[in-house]
Amino acid sequence: MDPSPLDLPAGFRFGVSTSAYQIEGAVGEDGRGASIWDTFSRTPGRIADGSSGDVACDHYHRHLDDIGLLSGLGVGAYRFSVAWPRVQPAGSGPVNPAGLAFYDRLVDLLLDRGIDPVVTLFHWDLPQALQDRGGWHARDTAARFAEYADLTAARLGDRVALWITLNEPVVHLTYGHALGVHAPGEARLFDALPVAHHQLLGHGLAVAALRARSSAPVAITNNYSPVRLAGATDPDRAAGQAFDAVQNRLFTDPVLGRGYPAALPVDLTALRYGDQPLVRDGDLATIAAPIDVLGVNYYNPTGVRAPAEADAPLPFDLVPLDGYPRTAFDWPVAPDGLHELLTGLRERHGADLPPIEITESGCAWDDVLDADGRCHDPERIDYLEGHLRAVRAAIDDGVDVRGYFVWSLLDNWEWAEGFGKRFGLVHVDFDTQVRTPKSSYAWYRDLIARQGSTRSAGPPA
Ligand code: BGC
Repeated sequence: MDPSPLDLPAGFRFGVSTSAYQIEGAVGEDGRGASIWDTFSRTPGRIADGSSGDVACDHYHRHLDDIGLLSGLGVGAYRFSVAWPRVQPAGSGPVNPAGLAFYDRLVDLLLDRGIDPVVTLFHWDLPQALQDRGGWHARDTAARFAEYADLTAARLGDRVALWITLNEPVVHLTYGHALGVHAPGEARLFDALPVAHHQLLGHGLAVAALRARSSAPVAITNNYSPVRLAGATDPDRAAGQAFDAVQNRLFTDPVLGRGYPAALPVDLTALRYGDQPLVRDGDLATIAAPIDVLGVNYYNPTGVRAPAEADAPLPFDLVPLDGYPRTAFDWPVAPDGLHELLTGLRERHGADLPPIEITESGCAWDDVLDADGRCHDPERIDYLEGHLRAVRAAIDDGVDVRGYFVWSLLDNWEWAEGFGKRFGLVHVDFDTQVRTPKSSYAWYRDLIARQGSTRSAGPPA
């Protein structure tokens, strides 16, 4: 590790991120409706350890303790998600007052402690009732999402510091609808592409709804994974471009006004949806509604090469990358990938690129409590330091990065992996719900204390 002190610019914001289904539990309480993750996790064989988010970190009941942990860290901002089925149980129609009251109180508790609430509206937990009507395959879900954004902003919009419409729509598209390893468990491959367009349309409509109710800045959060070619042939390069278009450009180019990338394996503008084009007149303008911040989530680069089989279902093969340390998820640790993607976004989008917040960055390790009840996670400290240095290098290279949110505050329910992957700065014993800050928590706290964390820009007075 570089011996020079880690030094982010004055005003840089340090935060942590979580998401509702991964921590809240209380899935049947206070009027919450069912989500697609309730359905998926109860389907035998879907979750590695057979668990669900029914209890997760029990954050719904223990949020005061968890806010205490945030205060102890000294973060200037906390990114959490609102569970759509908690505030609007059927995804349309009546609001659940108890659900909105939970988030209203959470926002006030954060503000009382000097922590800015950064709110994601959709972190993959679609109301099951909407899935029963087609989910994101149905164009109507985009309109329903805007309605939900409106009713949430009507309640919280005077105090939220930053809105994030969607979390990682590419992962929801590919894992949830193309490959079927996340809820709702559909394996449609490229037939899933209407889900991409309808998520983007929902984003654009939600931006307008949020602006009408709130003066806080608005963002979308995408997941980026730079391509590492595992071959040097023309077909390898073509495979790399196809993967890059899906993973890194599909949800960024249209939002920043460039339309759908030409390198996509399928031309969305040529697709039909019922008796109409999938992409209707005006849709691309709606999707390109100006945003104030681009949320960037980064975990690792991806090895790509041409498909081994001529009739392969996908135009690329994904291959393990050699030569990197690997996390408990077997993901390569490559901080240079974060620098590469940040400078790449700047090169591609130039003046159209809004300021960036790193809305997720983190790693899973097999963290255990030792005999004296402590949890030592030096690998996580190295990981975070390396990635913060990569951010610093990108800033020095002219990229406007304003903040960094560690994924995650707590060990939590890691989707299809169940409780098997620990990403937290705080260890959670899932039998007792005892929280034990890890050594990375102390490291991050001390870094923030040295550097001073700034609260986010909004909402403007
Ligand atoms: C998601 C999180 C997830 C994390 C680690 C991101 O793709 O937004 O919900 O826990 O990665 O897998």
